[in-house]
This record gives sequence, C-alpha cells and structure tokens, in this order.
Amino acid sequence: MLTIENLSVSLAGSPVLRALSMQVHAGTTTAVVGRNGAGKTTLLRSIMGLVTPSSGVIHLDEHNLTLSPGYERTRVDIGYAPEDRVIFPTLSVEENLRLPCEVLGLREPDMQERLSHVLDVVPQLKPMLPRSGAALSGGQGKMVALGRALMVGQSLVLLDEPFQGLAPALAQQYAEALARLRQSRPDLAVIITESNAALLTDIPNQILTIERGSFVESPIH
Ligand SMILES: Nc1ncnc2c1ncn2[C@@H]1O[C@H](COP(=O)(O)OP(=O)(O)O)[C@@H](O)[C@H]1O
Ligand SMILES: [Mg+2]
Repeated sequence: MLTIENLSVSLAGSPVLRALSMQVHAGTTTAVVGRNGAGKTTLLRSIMGLVTPSSGVIHLDEHNLTLSPGYERTRVDIGYAPEDRVIFPTLSVEENLRLPCEVLGLREPDMQERLSHVLDVVPQLKPMLPRSGAALSGGQGKMVALGRALMVGQSLVLLDEPFQGLAPALAQQYAEALARLRQSRPDLAVIITESNAALLTDIPNQILTIERGSFVESPIH
C-alpha cells in the first residue's frame, strides 16, 4: 500500500535519510524506532511532502507522492500528528479537529460522521470539545493531535512519537484508542515513530529500527 524505495534526504547539506526502503500494508501498524536524530521525523515529513527527497520514490497505492506537492497529500487521505502537536490555541478543540476537513472542503454531514467516529475511538475528546486549544496539557494535546490526524487519515495515519512525555495513565489511554482504531478501521495503515520501543508494548505488527538515516535490518519480508 505504502511503498518507499531508496529514499534519500539531505537537510542543510547533510544526508539525513540514506536509501531507505520500506513497505506498509493496509491494516497494519508499523513502528519506526530509533534514537533522537536518527531521521524518524524526516521520514514522516518526507511522506507528507514537507521535505524534498534528493532521490527515491514514495508510492501510496497508485499515487506517486514524490511527484505531488505536500498540500495535495491530504487529498490522498494521509493523516499526520506531528511530534510538536501544533494545536491552534485560538480555536476550540472541536474547531481544531474540524479544521483539516474544512480545508479539504468536506461537506458537513461527512465531517459530522468523521467526528463521531473519532469520538468513538478517542472518547476522552468528548468533554474537551468546547475547550480552548490553549487550555490543554501536553498529554491532552497529543490526544487532540491523534483525533485530528484521524479526521483526515482515511488510508494512512502517521504518528510522530505519540508516547513521548505522556504520563503512564494517558499512555495507556492512547494505546487503548489505537486498539479501538484497529477494530473500527481494519484497513487503515498506521506508522508510529518512537525512541523508546518499550513504550509500544504490543501495538505494532512490524518494527523497523532506524539508525543514522538507514534501517538496520532489511525491512521488507
Ligand atoms: N531543518 C533541518 N535542517 C538541518 N538539519 C536537520 C533539520 N531537521 C532535522 N535535521 C537533522 O536531521 C537529523 C534527523 O532529524 P529528525 O528526522 O528530526 O530525527 P528524529 O525525529 O529521529 O529525532 C538530525 O541530525 C537533525 O539534526
Ligand atoms: Mg523526531
């Protein structure tokens, strides 16, 4: 479903990703595990079209993502929860959740349907809907970022270090939300990055280890 072949990215003249290849199948969760600076965020940003690869190709089904600029990525249904959350403080939580769908021009009934699905998967968001985006704790912000990614991510969702800095109780809730997601969206593909593999428990179907911009073992089985 998602196929990356020989992806190389340089930032500020230094190689950050080196000939990465990976495959992610529909309905699976892939963890990309590596220490800080290994290239995890750059990999997700490359899939989103936010950085330009120096070589390599990224395909999502029949779409060649390396040919289309980032703003079109949401049109092929990729949801992205960045490491730094980017919740708009001047908007309510509900407005934050709706925003990407509004940008996509989704009709109100479709938006409602997606919102109610997201609230089934992440019920902690329900009481938070009217709250200001500025009033969220770090952990709550991670939950909102997950919900927002699920509002747009219809085939693929990218979660950048979701467990980083989450208190154990919230990490448990986050893992439970991912388990509900698996049940309710059996075809969705999920990529989760993490620096501490122990936080992932039994979530991923596939774990890829990234070191200095390369996967340590051949990721394609
Ligand atoms: N905008 C940038 N300009 C230059 N170098 C960058 C930039 N962003 C990241 N890097 C470098 O790329 C490497 C990988 O970073 P990143 O993808 O953020 O790793 P991770 O998410 O695994 O911590 C690091 O050495 C980092 O310093
Ligand atoms: Mg990162």
